[in-house]
Amino acid sequence: MRSFIISIPFVLSFIINSSAQSKRSTTIKTEALVPKFNLPELLISENGSQINTKETWEQIRRPEILELFTNQVYGKVPGKLTFHKAVVLDYSEVALGNKAIRKQVALHFEKGSKSIEMIVLMYLPKGVKNAPVFLGYNFSGNHAVHADPAILISGKTVAQLSPNELARLKPDSRGKRNSRWQADKIVAAGYGLVTVDYGDVDPDKNDFSDGIHALFYEENQTNPEPHQWGSLAAWAWGMSRVMDYFETETLVDENSVILFGHSRLGKTALWAGASDSRFSIVISNNSGCGGAALSRRRFGEKVSDINTNFPHWFAKNFHQYNENELALPIDQHMLIALIAPRPVYVASASLDPWADPNGEFLSTKAATSVYELYGKKGIEVDRQPAVNTPIHNTIGYHLREGKHNVTAYDWDQYIQFSNLHLN
Ligand code: GCU
Repeated sequence: MRSFIISIPFVLSFIINSSAQSKRSTTIKTEALVPKFNLPELLISENGSQINTKETWEQIRRPEILELFTNQVYGKVPGKLTFHKAVVLDYSEVALGNKAIRKQVALHFEKGSKSIEMIVLMYLPKGVKNAPVFLGYNFSGNHAVHADPAILISGKTVAQLSPNELARLKPDSRGKRNSRWQADKIVAAGYGLVTVDYGDVDPDKNDFSDGIHALFYEENQTNPEPHQWGSLAAWAWGMSRVMDYFETETLVDENSVILFGHSRLGKTALWAGASDSRFSIVISNNSGCGGAALSRRRFGEKVSDINTNFPHWFAKNFHQYNENELALPIDQHMLIALIAPRPVYVASASLDPWADPNGEFLSTKAATSVYELYGKKGIEVDRQPAVNTPIHNTIGYHLREGKHNVTAYDWDQYIQFSNLHLN
């Protein structure tokens, strides 16, 4: 075990307030209180041999680590399934002030007597053949991403919604999350924006009777097995299914898909990017515990917090590490390393101690040795950079000033980073 120095001489103290957005516990943390620990070795295989080439990384160590994350953390997808039909619900060439093509497609999935549907909203820059795209889930419905009145609400027009659906899907929230998505900025930069409501794949509640899980159950099964997928792995699976669709969609360049996610969906993006190498770039925005942040630091949200507040997110096997992070055979730097040699970007926010910004940075630093096997630059500095001073090597990192959120500043970085790294 290589010793990893995490104690920093200055003392920063943070007060984490409970927020309406989530069940954040009230806690105080300082760097000085971070326990000392050794990170599991990235470049020593289970049989003790040193990994020092990209070939041995790919043939030996990477599969070992992927297997550990699959069985111990996010959970295994129990089978294969792709969409059996893609129905175009809407197509317009005059969207976003005549700057974009808007296309809305329903992807249908069926198994046995069960089915789900993902509604994919796409804005593609006009005049760009095979557009590179940012792909990411949204939290509040496609209609919250932009004020465009033609965005369907769960695949329907307002007139088609039942009174129950009207109450649940809140048509008046149209455009409410505009600032998080910056569709106009993205399209002006020559990229498409593609998004899906994450609840289409698996509603975010501790209930495995609905969503995609139920399609895969054996007879009389009602919950995933301890090593099988929780909700994060289900959402990651959904991103791969959109990628299957891109492979059939001539408007999108499937070799230039930038996977993006914020918070729990940033965790999702990292796992999807690690388990499916078709994504060209992966971006984690404020993903925190179970995402980019090192679990062993126990800073902000701990493994026991996340497994208690969100018991359905990870495989049940992950719960054995509650208050027992040192027993984890992996830590989150290894998740980032699984994405190598593809560009990966981790973004933190200065007023987001719950997500442990420094732990997110240290993860990118510790993943660097794998990028170096490919002759790529990861993170060269030892200390977390100052606010608003981004690093855009093959591993990107920034600490944005402000709260847990996605802002125009973040998108400016993601666009510049993608301009730099897409072929
Ligand atoms: C909670 C949770 C975090 C998560 C966040 C979010 O705060 O504790 O792990 O990232 O919700 O997804 O908004």
